[in-house]
Amino acid sequence: MKIELRGVPAASLALPAVTVYCFEDDPVSSGSAESLPDETRKLLAEMKESGELKGKPFERTLIHRPAGLATQKLLVVGAGKKENYRPFHLARLAGAAVRYLRARAIREMAWLAGDETGPEQIQSVVEGAAMADYDSDPYRTERNGEFGVDSFVIAGANLAASDELNVAVEHGRAIGEAANFTRRLVNEPANRMTPAILAQQAREMATRSGLEFQELQEEEIRNLKMGAFLAVAQGSDQPPRLLVLRYSPPEAPEAPVIGLVGKGITFDSGGISLKPSLNMHEMKTDMAGGAAMLGVMQAIAQIKPKVRVIAVIPATENMPSGKACRPGDVVTSMSGKTIEILNTDAEGRLALADSLTYARQLGCNVLIDAATLTGAVVVALGNITTGVFGRDQQWVDRVMASGNKMGERMWQLPVDDEYRELYKSSIADLANTGGRYGGAITAAMFVGEFAEETPWVHLDIAGTAWSNDEKPYLAKGPTGVPVRTLVHLLTHLGG
Ligand code: BES
Ligand code: MN
Ligand code: ZN
Repeated sequence: MKIELRGVPAASLALPAVTVYCFEDDPVSSGSAESLPDETRKLLAEMKESGELKGKPFERTLIHRPAGLATQKLLVVGAGKKENYRPFHLARLAGAAVRYLRARAIREMAWLAGDETGPEQIQSVVEGAAMADYDSDPYRTERNGEFGVDSFVIAGANLAASDELNVAVEHGRAIGEAANFTRRLVNEPANRMTPAILAQQAREMATRSGLEFQELQEEEIRNLKMGAFLAVAQGSDQPPRLLVLRYSPPEAPEAPVIGLVGKGITFDSGGISLKPSLNMHEMKTDMAGGAAMLGVMQAIAQIKPKVRVIAVIPATENMPSGKACRPGDVVTSMSGKTIEILNTDAEGRLALADSLTYARQLGCNVLIDAATLTGAVVVALGNITTGVFGRDQQWVDRVMASGNKMGERMWQLPVDDEYRELYKSSIADLANTGGRYGGAITAAMFVGEFAEETPWVHLDIAGTAWSNDEKPYLAKGPTGVPVRTLVHLLTHLGG
């Protein structure tokens, strides 16, 4: 998608389609519809009068040969009530415009910027447009006339091209494309996204982006004594990988060194504690945390914030076989803590445990992990909200503030020593399950045991990494959560 800024008024845009948005309160003179010529607004007033145009959230009205404009078509997107408006809505409005037009074979479009548009708004619009221009059915051989948008023009009479606005376009593009990179990885079926293939994708991205990249093979993982991670991997014929990516700009301060740890289970069958077959196919998405961390690394390599970041991604399948670990097995983690594996389907926390230990050993002094960790978090928060856990309230608050800003909903759930009773083992230091009640909390706390004293934030994205319904602004399938949140965090650490 070609993205371009043009400092011209709406009337002279001779593109196939021009898009504006308006609020429900006053669809004729609000939002960017305000910047339309009088003649066009008169037309909108008539449509409002007849009840055809209301400005309800994501209401889309396509007007052919609109009075007062050179364009063939004017798309009006409803933004809902003005009092409910939040800055991240702009990305969704732009996304809703892109998805509406591309479904109608319109490949070139303009987005009319409102009069008060600055770099933040431009960045949001580009981000939303880029994310909307993605579909999750790459293996469908018949395209049904759905094609991407080739050219996306942001136009406005007061929009003088400046370095600041060009940078905003590039940042928006970097974030949108990073989220789409993550979504493509998550969407791949497990036969096309083995640990080795994930490693290859990560390597290619790192090379493209100028990031330092390391791929540890099974033998090196064994030398590191990652007994917990290897217990998960041992049942599969696909050898595991441990991926390490580093972003360390020389001008960044020595601290913090932020460790991004992402669960990279390329398929979670449950292992010997086999999952029921209903919906087991969804477990191809169990590497969404790892894929998100790769997306974040790609984005920051382009945006270049002054902060040191190391991503650690344990990649493996969780499979049943004659070599698989059994319920009751006791393993020794890299930290030295022993773990009784009561349920082989609680594999994510095993892989994360050793990865957190390793990230600390590499010098990370803040840890953030993202994982499709528990069904329990989906019961608690549904598919709308990511569960956030951590003992360092300052870092929890920072992550949640970024989530809030980017429109990726997050809610903090408690961690408390009283829950530790639940995952005690009668034979080892810890058990890998804590029973049904508070399942998201005990899973999070198990992972947190391996962060030790290091500030740590855990994001359980089991409910939010994938959406089964199509949104006006986003295809169904992988959502890219929490790429935008973490990129926002890392690019705003200075204040
Ligand atoms: N990958 C699953 C969690 C999951 C569930 C992700 C639904 C996405 C959607 C995880 O490895 C798992 O199986 N968790 C178990 C833990 C239990 C055995 C303690 C669960 O939540 O049932
Ligand atoms: Mn599992
Ligand atoms: Zn899993």
